[in-house]
Amino acid sequence: MNKKILVTGGLGFIGSHTVVALQERGFEVVIIDNLSNSSLDVLGGITKITKISPEYENIDLREKAAVKGFFEKYPDIEGVIHFAASKAVGESVENPLLYYENNLNSLIYLLKQLKQKEAPKFIFSSSCTVYGQADELPISEEAPVKKAESPYGNTKQIGEEIIFDTCKVTPHLNAISLRYFNPIGAHPSAHLGELPIGTPQNLVPFITQTAIGKREKLSVFGDDYPTPDGTCIRDYIHVVDLARAHVVALERLLDEEQDTNYEVFNLGTGKGNSVLEAIKTFEKVSGTKLPYTITGRREGDITAAYADTTKANEILKWKAEFSIDNALESAWKWEQRLQEKEMEETEGM
Ligand code: WQD
Repeated sequence: MNKKILVTGGLGFIGSHTVVALQERGFEVVIIDNLSNSSLDVLGGITKITKISPEYENIDLREKAAVKGFFEKYPDIEGVIHFAASKAVGESVENPLLYYENNLNSLIYLLKQLKQKEAPKFIFSSSCTVYGQADELPISEEAPVKKAESPYGNTKQIGEEIIFDTCKVTPHLNAISLRYFNPIGAHPSAHLGELPIGTPQNLVPFITQTAIGKREKLSVFGDDYPTPDGTCIRDYIHVVDLARAHVVALERLLDEEQDTNYEVFNLGTGKGNSVLEAIKTFEKVSGTKLPYTITGRREGDITAAYADTTKANEILKWKAEFSIDNALESAWKWEQRLQEKEMEETEGM
């Protein structure tokens, strides 16, 4: 029988791509999502790609009794990949309690249920934000965790600590935290991609929305950083590569012996690109000219971050396969598909 995996936040950006990757490897997936930052249409996108409709439960993970009820209904869940969380840095500064409540309670309730199982496996969505501005580049997992700049970042740090402390006293629980660098792109079929609500805060959805005409122009936040072209440097990783890494990590937990029951891995390409390089690459792959202007720095931005991926390469035997060109091309295709869908819907009205 196929192994059954719970994916929380499975209708979100990274979650939905991971559901596809899991189904393609033969796992049976149950999704929990409360639709707070996603849409039921995503289920259709997943099914179009894999021809398998995953089970879906609309559950709010802040409700302890509902989490318990879920595990009673699905006693054969063997692992959990936990994406469900709020992720807007600025909003977390405005509303810290919402972030601490959402991101930490859900994690605690899941772990409380999971530890009652025989050999539970757990994968946590963490972020390179835990490193802040690292002293050395590329950033390895050994780099110190710095005081978080935002409540969002703090929930990732505290989340990791909660799992670490729990694993220490729960030897039958095996967990991995995956620290993502900057996830971008979309499924090459254009059936899945990022669905930002309101004005996008992240670079790539802002670029694609500007190129399609939804936004007037992109603001480049600062060109006076100590980098070759003065703009910030990030490690942009294709969401399909990231999704595959979750499957590989889960298979490690299910099938391999580990020296320790809690591990941390960076997930990035290992290559840094500046904001201006990202813009130029986008213009090249899309054949469009992107209107942009240089504005002041955005508060809280760090100068440069890119991953040392040696640990994931060697232990997970995973390596990013797609380039930033591929990722931006897929993001553009997705934005165009979204526009087509909107036009079809307006015409159908
Ligand atoms: C990338 C670069 C901006 C928008 C954030 C979170 C992180 C992670 C991913 C996820 C920066 C510049 C952006 C724009 C710009 N979290 N930029 N104009 O800030 O590296 O990481 O998202 O859930 O925790 O902090 O990503 O895409 O916002 O910015 O010039 O309109 O693009 O200054 O240099 P960031 P980003």
